[in-house]
Amino acid sequence: MGRIVFNLAFAAALFLWDVGTAPAKQTWSAEEVRILRSLWIGNLPRLSKDPSNAVGSNPKAAKLGHRLFFDKRFSGNGTIACATCHQPDRRFTDGIPVAKGMGKTTRNSPTIIGTAHSPWFFWDGRTDSQWSQALKPMEARDEQGGARTGYAKIVYTDPSYRKAYEEIFGVMADVSDSERFPPQAAPIDGTASLKAWKDMSAADRKTITGIFVNIGKAIAAYERLIMPGPSRFDEYVDALLKSDNTPGKQILTDAEIAGLRLFINSGKCIQCHNGPLLTNNDFHNTGLPIENKTPKDEGRMQGAPAVRNSEFNCLGRYSNAGNKECAELEFIKLEGPDLLGAFKTPTLRNVGLTAPYMHDGQFSTLDEVLSHYNQAPDAPIGITDIVPLTFTPEQLDQLRRFLLTLDSPVNVALEFLSPPNVSASP
Ligand code: HEC
Ligand code: HEC
Repeated sequence: MGRIVFNLAFAAALFLWDVGTAPAKQTWSAEEVRILRSLWIGNLPRLSKDPSNAVGSNPKAAKLGHRLFFDKRFSGNGTIACATCHQPDRRFTDGIPVAKGMGKTTRNSPTIIGTAHSPWFFWDGRTDSQWSQALKPMEARDEQGGARTGYAKIVYTDPSYRKAYEEIFGVMADVSDSERFPPQAAPIDGTASLKAWKDMSAADRKTITGIFVNIGKAIAAYERLIMPGPSRFDEYVDALLKSDNTPGKQILTDAEIAGLRLFINSGKCIQCHNGPLLTNNDFHNTGLPIENKTPKDEGRMQGAPAVRNSEFNCLGRYSNAGNKECAELEFIKLEGPDLLGAFKTPTLRNVGLTAPYMHDGQFSTLDEVLSHYNQAPDAPIGITDIVPLTFTPEQLDQLRRFLLTLDSPVNVALEFLSPPNVSASP
């Protein structure tokens, strides 16, 4: 009861703040401090093991994955790597609305920073591990557009790759015979590679897919190192927590602090952007405009069954997890109107450096994003989860300024932010 009274008093105080009559130097309530602490990077848990990836925490695998991530030979035409679209100096994004690889894709490249903490990958969450995620772009026609036999052959024929691979995964099968292992064979519908794949023996297909999966697992070991460092927002919370609820030196400006208040209170942003990565790792329909897409993108409605049925999921034969270690997948929500047009809540860390925004790159600036939240129009597909905010232009500007305080360096050894020096590798 006391709590309800407290919350009512708090809501009234908030209302006063929002209409601008509160004193400029407000302190944070105990409840607000609890929320700030929950968003603070110091609250980011140690990355737990990925039970589906036996080499996920193996430094040798991370080193191999680092090479693979930047190696353009892992594409159909030798010009595209993961790093083409996930560029370290753009916080692992590419700066364009929808990604371009061998062709033009239909979605925006999200950052990979901190995503190792996520249970689902892609905007629609159609994979449930970083290793199974990595397999998709390698064979997607508009992205890297190659085939798994070709990739296995590169690793087999490049002595330094083969040595690194065998140190991690054991002796590699000989995949050099081009009769048995054609250079372009993969189970991708609508491609010439499919026929070549079907002509291979079941055992050879299994061998190749096993190598392909290991390539994904090494890449995932690298990605697991890519974590966000502390931002100005974190420094502010740090100081706040240390000085026992009285903000010390001016780490954030008054406008940024005002934006933070809107973010955690009347803006309701933390309903979805919560925890130290500012994401609930769930899927929501935010009523975004859809341009030039037929049929309309159903998002999670298709992503959920796709991951449930994937041979590369946590329960599948290529996973190292025991059945009891796949709780997310076991309890996955497969249907319901809230899945229609729903997409993964992205992290807001580094959001000042990762424009354009949203799954289709619908918005090129944070102003456009915030104006969308302010209006919350009806969704073109499904039902939107957001409600209009009716913030003033000044409040929207404060919110934008706060979001920019979430930018930070990547928290990883510098060598992992550029292509590896291969000749220096053993
Ligand atoms: C042509 C550009 C392109 C290339 C090449 C590419 N990606 Fe992506 N990546 C994207 C796009 C676009 C998405 C979102 C696609 C979707 O949701 O359908 C994405 C999604 C991801 C995600 C999911 C992030 C999240 O929050 O769910 C990860 C992780 C990732 N890529 C890693 C990789 C790795 C590893 C490689 C190389 C094996 C790679 N990408 C190659 C463009 C690319
Ligand atoms: C109901 C859940 C929900 C609420 C509430 C919410 N968001 Fe989001 N946010 C999302 C989802 C989901 C996306 C991605 C939508 C998509 O691309 O389809 C997103 C995307 C964003 C992006 C773009 C990030 C990027 O990298 O593309 C920003 C910025 C953002 N939200 C800020 C906010 C702010 C500020 C608020 C409060 C005013 C807020 N959000 C409230 C769920 C939510």
